[in-house]
Formats: sequence, structure tokens, C-alpha cells
Amino acid sequence: ELKVCVVGAGGSYTPEIVEGLITHRSQGLNVRVLGLCDTNRDRLEVMAGLARRMIDSAGADIEVQVSQELGEAARDADFVVTQIRVGGMQARRIDEVIPAKYGIIGQETTGPGGMFKALRTIPVMLDVARVVTEVAPRAFILNYTNPSGVVTEAVLTLTRARLLGLCSSIPLMQVQLRKLLQPRFGDVRIHSVGLNHLGFIFRIVAKEADVTSAAISWARRNHGGEDSLLTSALEVAETIGAIPVPKYGDLYFHRRREVKLAAEASRTRADVVMDIEAAVLKEAADPHTVGKPAALLRRGGDGYSSVTFSTMLSIVSNRGDDIVMSAMNRGAVSDLPDNVVVETNCRVDALGANPIPVGSLPLAIRGLVQAVKTHETLTVQAAVTKRRDLALQALLAHPLVSDIDVAVPLLDEMLQAHGLEYH
Ligand code: G6P
Repeated sequence: ELKVCVVGAGGSYTPEIVEGLITHRSQGLNVRVLGLCDTNRDRLEVMAGLARRMIDSAGADIEVQVSQELGEAARDADFVVTQIRVGGMQARRIDEVIPAKYGIIGQETTGPGGMFKALRTIPVMLDVARVVTEVAPRAFILNYTNPSGVVTEAVLTLTRARLLGLCSSIPLMQVQLRKLLQPRFGDVRIHSVGLNHLGFIFRIVAKEADVTSAAISWARRNHGGEDSLLTSALEVAETIGAIPVPKYGDLYFHRRREVKLAAEASRTRADVVMDIEAAVLKEAADPHTVGKPAALLRRGGDGYSSVTFSTMLSIVSNRGDDIVMSAMNRGAVSDLPDNVVVETNCRVDALGANPIPVGSLPLAIRGLVQAVKTHETLTVQAAVTKRRDLALQALLAHPLVSDIDVAVPLLDEMLQAHGLEYH
């Protein structure tokens, strides 16, 4: 009998988790208590109401505990799902708009936007991790809070919390590719390496044979083109021999095109997501709604709970499944330090996640991954010390910035816009 707690439960993804809890009850994941926590009381109540209706209408025996106090909501939990957004969508909007003024992509997880999201989120997530280790010492934290890899590195290096850094991007791509490759190669194993939102599928194995390059060519010819993000990733793959994560890979490999597209867009993603969230909340507040709000399909993270539940099941039944997530490197990738977080295939069991050894990074992506990793580690240091010099080093180290004439004014403008005081 398990307890799951969701932190940031007023967010639009909560119904996904509730749906997952209900459907997984027959699969060995016997959750009896669901703790819901959020700093925003109105949104928390709406989501708690929907959670209760979903549970009742499914006839499931799950008690819902609602509290704005993390210590209460997370007490004795086995799993704590963190999906917080410090500063809300208004802060996201700033992260998207200001870099664009300097000709740099404005994105909530990558580049200057991702860095600022990390700066304001890390201190809060460290507090969350510390409270959880106190009130629920055996809990695993399943983190979705972006930038997921950077947040994971901060918590794993600075606290004793047991945290796994989850993201649906690579797992979804594995599902897509497995299906696409099945008719030609049969069942394949798909290995990925890199960082969160800078992941690469670098090895595809069929019947013990490495078929990566044949699989890339086959996928390019046969994927049907309905997913333009995958088209773009496969195009890059022909050159570098590894498939970058869709959408986020384009921010590096089609850098100018992406900046141009963003400049032409009539609205920021923050504005669009604000509308989607309003629609999700409206549906959720309707007493007739007893399932996942339809508007959720318009969020990028739709489907993320399947990763959550595979992870929970693998831990609870000590299965040792191979799941791609962010975890401490500890030598798995030989050309990155041991004490940094990487995103790669991990064995997940009752003790947590262990990266499966990779060896060295493919040369075609090595420099980029090392550079972004350096930026991330500097970002963690800046977030905990609040030192402006470290923040400037972090921003300058990002390959999408790497120009001090831009980094200095950009840093100051963003610090000011977010009301952050660095000295
Ligand atoms: C994908 C990304 C996540 C992101 C999510 C939602 O799943 O991997 O990091 O949070 O999409 O994106 P959105 O733009 O809808 O907030």
C-alpha cells in the first residue's frame, strides 16, 4: 500500500497522474493515499475536486489528502512527484521574450531562459528535497520540474534526497522509433546519451547487432513525415550519426532558423500555454468532468505519466527496467565528470536509478554536450551562491550565447526583470 504525493498539484498535468494511479491499480501499484500540494489554493482545490471525482467514478479506493503544507502532503509518501513552476507563466514569458531581443532563442529549458528558470527554481527545489527527506525518508522524488536535468544535478549534489530526473521526450521518441523500425529490424533496443533536452539516440541494436546507421536511413525514408519534428531530427542524424531529441535539438542544429521562426510567431509559448491552462482548469472545475480534461492534449508533456508509472513499477517490484532518465553520471559517460547529471538509459530498481555504462560520447556531439554540461554546472553554482560572476560565466559558457558583449547586458536585463539580486 503506497502513498504518492504531487507537489505543484494545481498544475494541468495532475489529472494524468490520477488517471495513471487508477489504471495501474491492477498492475501491482497499490496506491491508497494521494497527497496533493500547491502554493496556489484555488488551483489546488480545483484539481483536488477533479481528482476525487475521477477516483469516485472509477470506484477506486484512494484517499485524497490536500494541503498547502508540503510537510503534511508528503508525510510518509513513497513517491513524491515534483512539477512546480516557480514564478508561474509570467516568469516563463520573460525567459522567452528577453533573449529574443538579443537574437538568441527564448526557451524555457534551453539557453538563457532555461538558465533563469534554473536560477529561480533550484533554491525552491532544494527546500522541497530537504522537507521530503525529513517527512518521508524512504520516498523517491520523481522530478519533472524544468530544467529537469539541471534541477536534478542541484538536488543530487547538494542534498541527500533520492531523486530521479524524468522527462517524456526520449521515452516517447523510443516508442515512435521502435514502432517505425519494427517491420524492417524486428525488436530493437534503443540507447540514448547526453543531457536532458540535449539527448541523442546513438545506438540502435537488433538481434545483438548494431544497426544504427541503417536504422537512421530506414527511418528517414519510411517515417511518413507526419511528425515534422522527427523529420528534422532524422535529417541531422544522417550527418552526426545520432538522432537528437526532437524540437530541442533544433535549437542547436537549426539555430538561426529557430530564432527566425520564434521572431515571426505572433505569440510566445507562455501565452499559448496560459490559454491552455485556463481551458484545462475550466474543464477541471466543471462538476461533470470525471476524466482527463481534453485541453491537456495541447500541452507538450501530454503522456508524461507513462514514464512516471514505469518508473514507479520498476522501483516497487525491483524489476531493473531500462528507462532513460537523468541520474548521477558516476563514470557511465567517461568524458564527463563523475559528479554531474547525465540523461541516459538507466537500470531502475528498488535502490533507484543507475546509468548503464556508455563509454565515451560520440565525437560528433562530444563538444556540444560537454559545453552545455559546463554551463549547467556553473548555473547550479550560481543559483546557490547568488554570485553574479558565476551567473555571467554560466551564461557565457552556453554555446547559444558565447559572446560577452551579449552576455553582460542580457544577464543584467534578465536579473532585473525577474527581480533577482545577485552580488
Ligand atoms: C515536453 C518537454 C517538457 C515540457 C513539456 C511541456 O514534454 O520535454 O520539458 O515541460 O513538453 O511543454 P509546454 O510548452 O506545453 O509547457
